Amino acid sequence: MHKGKGMKFVGDSRISSERKPNIPKDYSEYPGRTEAFWPNFLLKEWLVGAVFLVGFLCLTLAHPAPLEGVADPTNATYVPLPDWYFLFLYELLKYEFASGPWILFGIIILPGLAFGGLLLAPFLDPGPGRRPNQRPIAVAMMVLGLASTMLLTYESAAHVNWEARAEANKPVPATEINKENPGYAVYEQNCMSCHGESLEGSAAAPSLIGIDHTKEEIMKIAQEGYKTMPAGVFKGTKEELAALAEFIINVNEKAK
Ligand code: HEC
Repeated sequence: MHKGKGMKFVGDSRISSERKPNIPKDYSEYPGRTEAFWPNFLLKEWLVGAVFLVGFLCLTLAHPAPLEGVADPTNATYVPLPDWYFLFLYELLKYEFASGPWILFGIIILPGLAFGGLLLAPFLDPGPGRRPNQRPIAVAMMVLGLASTMLLTYESAAHVNWEARAEANKPVPATEINKENPGYAVYEQNCMSCHGESLEGSAAAPSLIGIDHTKEEIMKIAQEGYKTMPAGVFKGTKEELAALAEFIINVNEKAK
């Protein structure tokens, strides 16, 4: 007897010992265009997907997302806006029937009906036809949904002054703080607890970068307070006060 006769040598359990030719099954009894899902259809899908992926990558590299400044919890005038793809929902909440006492209708029922309606898709126009005119209910619902989404998005976007908004909320460039400056020690002692380690502000007080005060005004504010800032937070000598104000002016000059 020959060695190995009647045995099957398969080193890899994923490889079937019987070779099957890679020919798709015959789908000709099914209506419409037919092809094997694996690998023919998936290969096409992946190719198209890859083209879009690379396209989006190039687009995002060419046009980076326009970021606003860091969120500032003390800024009460900031109007938050969702990203463009949620603007239509945001706009919906401005209508009387979807806000105030009707808010639940606006935030749960109406969007719930719209998105829940997607579940009905397989049951609408269940005939075998795939042309739009053979599926009037599904097509009508889609057109209605698409049209209202586009209209609401347009309504919302048209009422925003995008240039002014971008200008008002543009990012503040990180400012170099010279912590060796003698004024910084005074700042650390008297102001840091509210205005932050790098003058960036905190929940208790606004940023001191980008302010519009003279040295004298800052010295006065440090002693006498300013609007909601209490008086008498500064404790120290006249020289220290001057060094402090100079330091703050200096940082602001650099930030310009
Ligand atoms: C107890 C917290 C607190 C401390 C400590 C404090 N500040 Fe303030 N500061 C505030 C608040 C709150 C405001 C905002 C006032 C307003 O606009 O209502 C403010 C505002 C200011 C402003 C005006 C900013 C602007 O937007 O025009 C200056 C300047 C200022 N502080 C300087 C100082 C200096 C200098 C010190 C240290 C000597 C200091 N602050 C310490 C809370 C504080």
